[in-house]
Amino acid sequence: MSDATKKEMSSSAIWGGRFDGGPSEIMERINASIDFDKRMYAQDIAASQAHAAMLVAQDIISAEDGARISDGLEQILAEITAGEFEFKTALEDIHMNIEARLTEIIGDAAGRLHTARSRNDQVATDFKLWVRDELDGLDAALKSFQAMLIARAEEHVQTIMPGYTHLQTAQPVTLGHHLLAYVEMIGRDRSRVVDCRTRMNENPLGSGALAGTSFPIDRHATAAALGFDGPTTNSLDAVSDRDFALEYMSLAAILSVHLSRLAEEIVVWASASFGFVNLPDSFSTGSSMLPQKRNPDAAELVRAKSGRVIGNLNSLLIVMKGLPLAYSKDMQEDKEPVFETADTLALTVAAMTGMFEEITFNADRMLAAAKAANSNAIDLADWLVRVLGKPFREAHHISGAMVKLAEGKNCTLEELSLGDMQSIEPAITEDVLAQLDIEQALNARSSFGGTAPENVKDACAQARLKYLG
Ligand code: ARG
Repeated sequence: MSDATKKEMSSSAIWGGRFDGGPSEIMERINASIDFDKRMYAQDIAASQAHAAMLVAQDIISAEDGARISDGLEQILAEITAGEFEFKTALEDIHMNIEARLTEIIGDAAGRLHTARSRNDQVATDFKLWVRDELDGLDAALKSFQAMLIARAEEHVQTIMPGYTHLQTAQPVTLGHHLLAYVEMIGRDRSRVVDCRTRMNENPLGSGALAGTSFPIDRHATAAALGFDGPTTNSLDAVSDRDFALEYMSLAAILSVHLSRLAEEIVVWASASFGFVNLPDSFSTGSSMLPQKRNPDAAELVRAKSGRVIGNLNSLLIVMKGLPLAYSKDMQEDKEPVFETADTLALTVAAMTGMFEEITFNADRMLAAAKAANSNAIDLADWLVRVLGKPFREAHHISGAMVKLAEGKNCTLEELSLGDMQSIEPAITEDVLAQLDIEQALNARSSFGGTAPENVKDACAQARLKYLG
């Protein structure tokens, strides 16, 4: 291939006016981002359309050239959507692939599109648009997940399970209350999505390579056309800012931690030792050796994939931390972690939503576990405070002594006879027995935010209003 031909097909034909030779094959490979940044084709074309329309409106290019550019871009969009576009590594990235194709289609007028624009403001704009779309999609997916959790919580407003601290049985709670805890976490994740979207929604386009442009552009017009709230304020900042990607991956990392914690609960609950849940066939697998096994693979993978998402945040933080203003090519490394984060979240959120649609809960096992560990010892102590007027510390001690007695007799607190109890605290009456009833204990936790079924019923209704309205 002659040098001239090679120049024609490669990005150096676009930027190589001062170059004699083309890049080596290795240079092309390390330089190219097309394999991944082609995912931003729709955003690149939308931003170019807005830019071209603005150039026409500002009399920077002619209406005829503007129309040619616009038609050509539309054709390219159709070609890419139809899978007919040939992406070329030699053309480096999505921006140059599209510009080169535009030149093939409309000829010289294509060369006017890049007036008053650099790839630096172009890529910042495209990438912001991509992340913004992703945030909108994520919010919708999280809303569906919350809807699923709320629906399951409503079914289990009364279902009793053990609540844990230190993974030691602590107090009975309702399953509905437990599920609503995750609805709150996802609610905070969604509010971080909104924050991130609000803060990032400024248009970098028109910042040029780093310093702005001498052309009389209208950055407010391109901002409005692309759904931004307005233009970015400082051109140096605009082309070198990747906070939006970092914020996106930060909120993704926190969300992944939430999903991972819930996944961990499923793994534990699905074990034969707990037996709290039955996983649907559709979200578990068998063992190739042990015929009886039903493994919670989907939950385990959700738990594990949080590692990637957290790692991706770290990876971009490290890329960015040493970069002087303004753009550096290092920043091309921003896209793969973001894309992988988005793909991972799409899968993990969908897997958790799907799992919760079909999972079934073993109310009997959960009730037995809640009763087994004398989780009503606090109710006994509270009764001693309320009825006998004991100081809480003393009541705690008495109740603890009764737990010890019950353990010695291999029975539960409520199985102790009144006589047994009176041997520790003579003033106890049989009224205490009602207090030890697990449902009674649960109903009593009616402080705001507590687990009493009445509260949980109300909390489900509130969650519907707050998150699904
Ligand atoms: N592919 C590049 C990126 O993703 C586009 C910007 C290139 N700018 C430049 N001055 N070489 O960052």
